[in-house]
Amino acid sequence: MSKKNQYKVTTRLVHGPEHSAKWDFTHHVTPPLSSSTTYRLDSAKRGARGFQEFGQLVTDTGEAPVYIYDRLDEPTRSILEGELAEVEGGEACVTFASGMAAISGALGSVLVAGDELIAHPVLYGCTHSLFENWYPRQGLCVHRVDLNDVAAVRRCINERTRALYFESPVNPSLELIDIGALRVLADEVNCSRPPERRLLIFIDNTFATPFGQRPLALGADVVLHSLTKNLGGFGTELGGAVICPKSMHAKLLLYRKDFGGILGSKSAWAILVYGLPTLALRLKRQQFTAKKVATWLEKHEAVARVAYPGLASFPQRALAEKQLRDFDGDFAPGNMITFELDPQLVDALEFVDEIARSAYSVTLAVSLGHTKTLIELPASMTHSSYGKGGAAVRLSIGLESPSDILADLKQALAKVAKARVARGSSR
Ligand SMILES: Cc1ncc(COP(=O)(O)O)c(C=O)c1O
Repeated sequence: MSKKNQYKVTTRLVHGPEHSAKWDFTHHVTPPLSSSTTYRLDSAKRGARGFQEFGQLVTDTGEAPVYIYDRLDEPTRSILEGELAEVEGGEACVTFASGMAAISGALGSVLVAGDELIAHPVLYGCTHSLFENWYPRQGLCVHRVDLNDVAAVRRCINERTRALYFESPVNPSLELIDIGALRVLADEVNCSRPPERRLLIFIDNTFATPFGQRPLALGADVVLHSLTKNLGGFGTELGGAVICPKSMHAKLLLYRKDFGGILGSKSAWAILVYGLPTLALRLKRQQFTAKKVATWLEKHEAVARVAYPGLASFPQRALAEKQLRDFDGDFAPGNMITFELDPQLVDALEFVDEIARSAYSVTLAVSLGHTKTLIELPASMTHSSYGKGGAAVRLSIGLESPSDILADLKQALAKVAKARVARGSSR
């Protein structure tokens, strides 16, 4: 056992690996940022070996592996990939230019025309758009089924079904999917299938992050991330990651090589050096504040409903306590809150506009998992591809003082409610 394995995950994410099989950076306290698009090959023979080994994932030749070109493999990015695979408890990781590139890459490396996919009805807006606008053009059939209704999922599966796809917690509803229940179903289905046609469970773990949930241990096959969010953590880098079994690794690397959506080394370095070491610290602080904000919102007269897995009123509280666990085994309900306002008292649009006008600690902006608290209206912003209205407000809690966030929310709610009363009485 390497010395690293004796330490807790939080410590390991701060220190990273002792060395890389491909790159000796033992004397760097901070891993170096590599920035070279191409690599000296020394001889035609060594160059040819590099290309041959890349496609085959050959690693046991006894000779140091060859770096060829950034789009194939790159030292800084590969350290990040090693760290992400380890923290998710997976066999391999391939990073991409964005979360959407990771999602389309993971599914694109598995599905062929004629295959079917069963996806939960509510998903991040661009994933919904990928499935509704693009997959039919590629001969891929997407069924939208409530993945917590296992009997309905079972009825929808046929020999062409290759993937179950969902987020948990779901963006933006925060609903959870019972991963263990889908594992039982997939195992039943896979009994009679050859390995290359297995039904695979894909989960987008962007909201919880590996800090708050390790889906592979709960029964998923493939974990996806937008590194742009909590894992990057500072709102400076776009990125995506796929954590997958070894059996998918080579295909995924070839897919990324040919479709080209690589994660740039400078972004990989920032995520590796700033994002991962501070992950536990940020998430713990943010969920401490999120609990306070959700509890406060729930008691506010203008708030009709609050969804936050850390509230006793959360409808799937037992499942939340089972699936959302941090590195130390403590309950990790996360930093995301979705709530609805009572339209008789406060209009959601007016409220969010008031926040944009007057709040300092809460920013009207999409994205999430930032140092700053962000607020948005999913129906008209991140989830506008659904083309349906809805008054939910999504909050991603940052690192500000909780009392400042509460004061800004309180002031905006009061001001908009007062203006409405004034308008009503002047009619
Ligand atoms: C749950 C989820 N998955 C994937 C993505 C896509 O990530 P990216 O913007 O990095 O492509 C997002 C973006 O908001 C998201 O919220």
